[in-house]
Amino acid sequence: MAGPLLPTLLPDTAQVLEGDVVVGGVSLTELAATYGTPLFVYDEATLRARAAEAAAAFDDGVAFATKSFLCGAMARLAHEEGLCVDVATGGEFDLVRRAGVPASRVIVHGNNKSEAELVAAIDAHVHRLVVDNFDEIARLRGLVSATRPVSCLVRVTPGVEAHTHEFIRTGQEDSKFGFSLSSGDARRAIEELRSIPGVTLHGVHAHIGSQIFELDGFVATLRILADFTRGDSFDEVCIGGGLGVAYVEGESAPSLTEWGRTLRAAAAEAGLATTRLLAEPGRSIVASAALTLYRVGTVKPVAARTYMAVDGGMSDNPRPVLYGSGYEAFDVARPLAERSRSLRLVGKHCESGDVIIDEAWLPEATGVGDLVATPVTGAYGYSMASNYNRVPRPAVVFVADGVAREVLRRETFEDLARLEA
Ligand SMILES: Cc1ncc(COP(=O)(O)O)c(C=O)c1O
Repeated sequence: MAGPLLPTLLPDTAQVLEGDVVVGGVSLTELAATYGTPLFVYDEATLRARAAEAAAAFDDGVAFATKSFLCGAMARLAHEEGLCVDVATGGEFDLVRRAGVPASRVIVHGNNKSEAELVAAIDAHVHRLVVDNFDEIARLRGLVSATRPVSCLVRVTPGVEAHTHEFIRTGQEDSKFGFSLSSGDARRAIEELRSIPGVTLHGVHAHIGSQIFELDGFVATLRILADFTRGDSFDEVCIGGGLGVAYVEGESAPSLTEWGRTLRAAAAEAGLATTRLLAEPGRSIVASAALTLYRVGTVKPVAARTYMAVDGGMSDNPRPVLYGSGYEAFDVARPLAERSRSLRLVGKHCESGDVIIDEAWLPEATGVGDLVATPVTGAYGYSMASNYNRVPRPAVVFVADGVAREVLRRETFEDLARLEA
């Protein structure tokens, strides 16, 4: 048994009314009628507030991690709010450039950057290239020169095990990302990079994982990075992304401001007071800004439970399948009703694992044809979406001041057929 959904999980501008929920001044019922379902609805005010908060919490050069949610409108919004953008592939780089983000505000990551990706980054004069491995250093040796320079950070694995799911833990020694500190590889990488004319090395970077609620892992990492770089005279240090967000009732996460304040204090204590303190938040900027609207198609009671199936599923939100992530749901037309009925909210894909919420609570009256929403779906939903079972990807709308704008249209069957030879 659960009460009505707590507004804390909804975007900042959400208004819960008797028979509807309004976000950014726009009715969710009307949005579903206009754009169809499933539909990602992003509250632009929440996106801008979080992006501005991140920009204020760290120094200039703090980046939005586009892997968490990327489209042209989002790249421009992050840029307008004063953030750099971090990209991990040529595809992300291409999109942010098409969106108008100058290369001088782009940070390029990747644990297996192709030569073409490196050339594109160097030729565009990106803000930073984050170097991950010795093969990349060998490639850079052939590509960079005094007349073709590049500004870099070195990604290191600090040996910190973040308190989070093992698939999104990256700071431990046994990782495919970065150079190990303890083996001496990180020191060797710094020396090698310093020997390449044209490479300017600004500092070190570590990303210990994602969906982390406790700040002590970040603080420990910063101390390790400070100790490691003492004497290097670097001018910046990047702690990566990873700040967690509350997905379900009862969870609470530090704010971006608290994250920045705690790290700044730790940096000062560790002797990094004059070093630019940077981060790359993704989830904590976009997750709670969005919700997904689904239409209920079938309700099937079996002996063990009731299955309620909606018109999306693991193709628009793979996180429950990948990490066993939890979500809440509410009935858009009955947001104030007690959620007294327990059921399993599932998608329309041909997998028993296609579960959106293992034990969802919805009002007794919720049934076929109703609109069900899952809040906090702004991160790693659309960006990890697939066409499994040839299901077209949903549309994405941004809402602000009573106006909705479609920033990504719904895919069509024609879109899905366009690659056929
Ligand atoms: C290098 C790097 N930076 C930033 C991020 C963003 O993390 P989050 O969305 O948890 O803030 C990631 C996520 O995997 C990452 O790998």
